[in-house]
Amino acid sequence: MARLAINVDHVATVRQARMVREPDPVTAAALAELAGADGIVVHLREDRRHIQDRDLEVLRQTVKTRLNLEMAATEEMVRIALKIQPHVVTLVPEKRLELTTEGGLNVEGQQSHLQEIIPRLQEGGIGVSLFIDPDLHQVRASQELKADFVEIHTGSFAEAGHPGHQEQELGRIEEAAVLADELGLGIHAGHGVDYKNILWLRDIPEIEEFSIGHAVVARAVLVGMERAVREMIALVKG
Ligand code: PXP
Repeated sequence: MARLAINVDHVATVRQARMVREPDPVTAAALAELAGADGIVVHLREDRRHIQDRDLEVLRQTVKTRLNLEMAATEEMVRIALKIQPHVVTLVPEKRLELTTEGGLNVEGQQSHLQEIIPRLQEGGIGVSLFIDPDLHQVRASQELKADFVEIHTGSFAEAGHPGHQEQELGRIEEAAVLADELGLGIHAGHGVDYKNILWLRDIPEIEEFSIGHAVVARAVLVGMERAVREMIALVKG
C-alpha cells in the first residue's frame, strides 16, 4: 500500500496573502499527521512566496513522520538542506514566474551539476529524490546519478483533456515506474493528483508514495467552511 505525503505549501500561500501568522503550515502539518499522513512536504522556493525559512526550521522539529523538502538545485538551497537535515530532499526545476513546478528536472541535461550536489546531500544524511517527467531516459539518468528516489511528475496525466490522452499518459507513468523499480530506485509520484485521478494511479504497485498538496488543501477549505461560518455566526449573534 502506498504512503501519502501531504504538501502544505498552499496553507502558507493563504497566510502570505496577508503576511500574517495564520494559517500556519506547521499546524496544518501536525493535523495531517494526526489524520494519518505518512509524511509532510514543503517547497522552499527561492522567492519565498509561500513557505518561509522559519516554517522549515519549525517543521524539522515538529514533524513526527518524514519531512521532504522540495527545492531547486542551487548552492543556497543545498546549504539550507544540510543545516536543516530533512529526511529527503526532492530536487525540482524552479522558474521565477511559474505558478507551480511546470515540468520535471532535465537530469540528463545537467548531469555534471547534479553529480556534484547529490553526493553532498547524501553524505549529509539526506535521501535524494529527483522530480522527473515519466521518461525512460530521465529514469536511467537518475539511476546513473545514484539518486535514492525518483518522483514521477503526474501533471500531464492529471491535465490530459480526453480519456485517450489520459490513458496514454498513465501508460508513460507506469512504464517509468516499472523501469525505476527494476533499477532499484524508490518511487514517489505527484503533481495534480486529486480525489478522482488517484483511483487510477493507486493501481500502479511500484509507486511507494504520493505527494499531494493542492487538492487536499482545496478540499480542506471547502469541507471546513461550514463549521467556520457556524462558529462566527455563534459569535456575531451571541
Ligand atoms: N511534487 C512536486 C515535486 C511538486 O512540486 C508539487 C507541487 O508543489 C507536488 C508534488 C504537489 O502537487 P499538487 O499541489 O498539485 O498536489
